[in-house]
Amino acid sequence: MRTRVLSLLLATPLLGCSPKASPTPAPSAAPAVDRKWWKEAVVYQIYPRSFQDSDGDGIGDLKGMLSRLDYVKSLGVDAVWLNPVYASPNQDNGYDISDYRKIMKEFGTMEDFDRVLQGFHDRHIKVLMDLVLNHCSDQHEWFVQARQSRTNPYYDYFHWWPAEKGKPPARWSHFDENADAWAFNPKTNSYYLHYFAKGQPDLNWENPKVRRELYDMIRFWLDKGVDGFRLDAIAYISKDTSFPPLPAEFAGQWSKYYANGPHLHEYIQEMSREAFGTHDIATVAEAFVSIEHAMKLVDPDRHELNMAYHFDAIGLGYLPNEYKMPDPRGYDLVEMKRIYTEWDEAFEEKGWGTVYLGNHDQPRMVTRWGSDAAEWRELSSKMLTTFLLSMRATPYYYFGDELGMSNARFERLEDYDDIELKTNYEQVRKKGGDLKRFLEGMKISSRDNSRTPFQWDASPNGGFTTGKPWLKVNPNFPTVNVAVEEKDPGSVLNYFKKLVRLRKDNPVLVYGRYALLDAANPDTYAYTRELDGKRVLVLLNFRAKDAAVKTGLDLARATVIAGNYPEPSRDGSLRPYEAVILGL
Ligand code: NOJ
Repeated sequence: MRTRVLSLLLATPLLGCSPKASPTPAPSAAPAVDRKWWKEAVVYQIYPRSFQDSDGDGIGDLKGMLSRLDYVKSLGVDAVWLNPVYASPNQDNGYDISDYRKIMKEFGTMEDFDRVLQGFHDRHIKVLMDLVLNHCSDQHEWFVQARQSRTNPYYDYFHWWPAEKGKPPARWSHFDENADAWAFNPKTNSYYLHYFAKGQPDLNWENPKVRRELYDMIRFWLDKGVDGFRLDAIAYISKDTSFPPLPAEFAGQWSKYYANGPHLHEYIQEMSREAFGTHDIATVAEAFVSIEHAMKLVDPDRHELNMAYHFDAIGLGYLPNEYKMPDPRGYDLVEMKRIYTEWDEAFEEKGWGTVYLGNHDQPRMVTRWGSDAAEWRELSSKMLTTFLLSMRATPYYYFGDELGMSNARFERLEDYDDIELKTNYEQVRKKGGDLKRFLEGMKISSRDNSRTPFQWDASPNGGFTTGKPWLKVNPNFPTVNVAVEEKDPGSVLNYFKKLVRLRKDNPVLVYGRYALLDAANPDTYAYTRELDGKRVLVLLNFRAKDAAVKTGLDLARATVIAGNYPEPSRDGSLRPYEAVILGL
């Protein structure tokens, strides 16, 4: 009965598709659909520090965000994910939290936050908070206390290695100039663990008191009415506190080792039960894990989380064993297709995926996966948007990508802010490495490329601030900005809005079975989506040259649903960076 009702609900016609579009509907292969708001949502990620400044201090803030809610509404998205807004000394831009129940002073006050939350809700937009539970700031009261003495009640809130046992077993840090995840604390004569920066001590989840404090804090935000959480580095929370040497199978892959803690799933189940309770929220893990492992996180029968985002594809195109150094040959599209297809298959029966091509930890989508050369920036941005909004997974779309914002490509170390870049620069310098080559690579891969201020209009600093922006604005702001693009019906922005609408109006794009076509084609990505007799074909050319797809399908009667060229191709021969969605 339930499935029949859902079929009726899902029988909305495709935009631009005539009733003749599918004369012989193929038998539906789609499994029964378990509808959830967070599966149907398009999530728009906002990096608050760079969205809109209201007081001229050069840093985005909540009052600024409040003034831009109608813009977010105009995009048609269903939810926003806000990067951390909690009190923080900002060693890692908010991922080092000094008070989980306060708002970062640069961003405003709790009253401002409440207004923003209400403002989004008034516009029927849900709000996902960033939840940083693996570590806090060394300025957090817990750590300030803990580091005083071994008998302090907060000492066990963190992981320590007593110096009398000698040097601790090697653990690598993401953001340390010596790549060392242990820092010595003279007062306690012991080392504390920090998988990230020295100012981000890892919380000791093995201590039930810590878990209780965190669950309590989560309930505080749920009581305010937030609609879900993106769980930062969540797979790292459980540790073998005997700190054995890293097992051989994880050689060079310490991130994967960190994600395999002995009590991870037990703790997440406990958090789900005790903190999330029965709230109808979205929870998404940042999870550096294998498919099998991700499945455990999101299998609804296990009551852990709803979604996870993986790193398998995002690492393509970099040289092995070097920090984010771009491979001059670019990335392997066949491999990228294989990865996305494998992750789709994993969630075919249960569980649910995510899809993203950019976020605050990645460079700009168009620079990395398309081309930001003047002639291709718009076309390839639209092509990538077509990909994100036509996959069977919840799209996490990063702010500014809807404008086709591209990498800032800073020349000098001083132009960067990011702790990841700076500590890795130091590592290269200490080893006597090639710093010029390092900075060249960073023009492509650094996180600051995507953290530059949002480009609202052609006024100074792109309308982001009247002061000096905390990070330089991309010099292309006079032409790449909201004001220009809102007026241009053919803009990247208006294409994004159209595709969001299309996804929302066509459940086949959300729930339809995905099947990869022409897998070995090195230039194109093609797939069908199918639900209840409706079938669409997505054709994407990832290259700056013509390319043809072997679909093996009769396209004679195919209808155009969307495309990034004025006259979209109907026969599988694609122009540079062409994207087309056809109804079959
Ligand atoms: C992942 C976050 O996305 C990143 O920005 C941050 O630096 C680390 N986790 C540490 O919290």
